[in-house]
Amino acid sequence: MSVPRDPATVENAIALARPLVTAALAGGGRSVLEAGCGSCSHFDLAGAHSVGIDISASQLERNSSLDERLEGDLQFHDLGCERFDAVVSWYVLEHVARPDLALANMARALRPGGILVLAVPRVLSVKGLVTKFSPHWFHVAVYRHLLGRKTAGLEGHPPFPTHLRWSMSAAGLRRFAREEGFDTELWEIFEDDTQRRLRARFIPFRLAFALLDLVVRLLTLTRASAYPTDLLTILRKQG
Ligand SMILES: C[S@@+](CC[C@H](N)C(=O)[O-])C[C@H]1O[C@@H](n2cnc3c(N)ncnc32)[C@H](O)[C@@H]1O
Repeated sequence: MSVPRDPATVENAIALARPLVTAALAGGGRSVLEAGCGSCSHFDLAGAHSVGIDISASQLERNSSLDERLEGDLQFHDLGCERFDAVVSWYVLEHVARPDLALANMARALRPGGILVLAVPRVLSVKGLVTKFSPHWFHVAVYRHLLGRKTAGLEGHPPFPTHLRWSMSAAGLRRFAREEGFDTELWEIFEDDTQRRLRARFIPFRLAFALLDLVVRLLTLTRASAYPTDLLTILRKQG
């Protein structure tokens, strides 16, 4: 299968995920965990009991959509066993030193038949590799000077320190799903808005990506592209 020329966006991916999240939380008495909730949610969780965990007290305080707030580390905090119908972890695994522990913790907290929604940067992408092998001050500089975010690097504001361990790469997540007994319901790769905007704004960036994409397509016989940066997957815990 060859990849389309125009990489999908996060909006495309969310549109595909939304019906699955809605269905998992339909029917009353449902509960959802926002793992690394930050200050907002990307899905309509109304009607479900929503619990958020975050390591940052200031992020938790800013989140007004939660019924219950837990200040703690997703890798180690006791989330209980088979308690949630859905666990949503939106751009969090790249920030933890042991994503394998966080994944195991979330898997344990899910009821059989429940869904795990994961949005992550792809480690094996141009953005992923540059981020993984560059220091945090460089990420702050990009946010401040290229993206114009004045609060970049201040406490409780992105970019957050990033590890991007191989255990949360696409291959790592597939292995996790296999070993922990999850079925894959959605597996969608897309290009994030930041890279899209940088390509639109800076001609050298655009040209470099076009060239890189050509090379990647040739080397993989059009099975891969240099553009997609991120992955949204929904995994269902087997009953
Ligand atoms: C990029 S933000 C994403 C926040 C939110 N999920 C969103 O999409 O807007 C990453 C969040 O993960 C939280 N975080 C980082 N490491 C964590 C950990 N070990 N345990 C729990 N939360 C963590 C950060 O405090 C931050 O709120």
